[in-house]
Amino acid sequence: MLRIALLPGDGIGPEVIEEAKNVLAAAADRFSIQWQSETLDLGADRYLRTGDTLPQADFDHLRDDFDAIVVGAFGDPRVPTNIHAKDILLGLRQRLDLYVNLRPVRLLDTRFCPLKDRGPADIDMAIVRENTESVYTGIGGHLRKDTPHEVAQSIMISTRMACDRLLHYAFQLAGQRRKIVTLCDKANAIPHAHGLWRRSLAAVAPQYPDIEARTLYSDVAAMRMVTHPQEFDVVVGDNLMGDMLSDLAAALVGGLGLAPSASLHPGSAALYEPVHGSAPDIVGTGKANPLAAIMSVAMLLRDFGHTAAANAVDAACENAVMSGSTTPDLGGNLATAEVGAYICAQVAAA
Ligand SMILES: NC(=O)c1ccc[n+]([C@@H]2O[C@H](COP(=O)([O-])OP(=O)(O)OC[C@H]3O[C@@H](n4cnc5c(N)ncnc54)[C@H](O)[C@@H]3O)[C@@H](O)[C@H]2O)c1
Repeated sequence: MLRIALLPGDGIGPEVIEEAKNVLAAAADRFSIQWQSETLDLGADRYLRTGDTLPQADFDHLRDDFDAIVVGAFGDPRVPTNIHAKDILLGLRQRLDLYVNLRPVRLLDTRFCPLKDRGPADIDMAIVRENTESVYTGIGGHLRKDTPHEVAQSIMISTRMACDRLLHYAFQLAGQRRKIVTLCDKANAIPHAHGLWRRSLAAVAPQYPDIEARTLYSDVAAMRMVTHPQEFDVVVGDNLMGDMLSDLAAALVGGLGLAPSASLHPGSAALYEPVHGSAPDIVGTGKANPLAAIMSVAMLLRDFGHTAAANAVDAACENAVMSGSTTPDLGGNLATAEVGAYICAQVAAA
């Protein structure tokens, strides 16, 4: 029994998660998957009502009683500090040690590629971003704040354990793909924290002799992703490099509406979410594109061994894009629920 926690969250989150849930149900029916889901009330509404962000009891429930978590988005103009989103999303990432941030980037339709003369065969990569360290830990501080002599410091953390475990994940993933791992770093300018990544690579790569290990400085990687995207298969970077390169890569295939992601602690915890935010500007208009949330659900199905179901959902998303059965952001004229219904019908008929 696949146990799924749904966290719709704020803004368009509930709208896209409703469709993701419908698609899960359709896939479960078609491919005989035993599953159950529970929707948890976490987000801005609850925070404004009770002051709760991620109470311990909810965290324990999420950690202990589910195989996977599916998130919509968090962020609400009524909570300008965004404290609830930080507590929930960063809290889950840290407390469940979701050290892999995985973003597949695949061009479905040439119309959405800003590069000249590039097609689906040229852009198919997986960005594997370290999700717990680098300059994102909050370690640092100010001296003489708000004076002309202010000193500000954000400390970059790399641990050997984190480099090794992420690289092992990347090499294993590459084994199921085109068998190339490219580590992107700034080991030239950041010799300590990023030099460690290179030494980790030198130790891990020989354990995967059938995978080609490459290194690129991230500035060069950014250029080559634009000029030679076909060279990239699995792209690995620390939290900062991965943050930048994953957005660049997403822009090559159509941006937010087609960008799914997973945050994983392989073997113990898994969270799936669209990359986009809560889009308060389009809440309730029917314009929210559910495809990124639905593609995130396909990642979930694949990770839990339901390959045929995952392939059917991915194929349905591709058909929606190719046939223009999309929301206006991708040039179509369907509403959120109509796109969801299109995908469900395709999956049922797969
Ligand atoms: N993972 C998350 O939960 C997450 C990620 C990013 C932003 N946020 C939060 O979301 C709120 C809004 O942030 P933002 O405006 O910078 O980013 P956003 O991704 O919510 O929106 C950016 C633009 O893209 C559009 N857009 C986004 N998703 C779309 C979809 N599925 N279909 C159609 N159009 C879509 C929006 O209408 C908007 O014009 C903020 O509170 C922010 O903190 C949350």
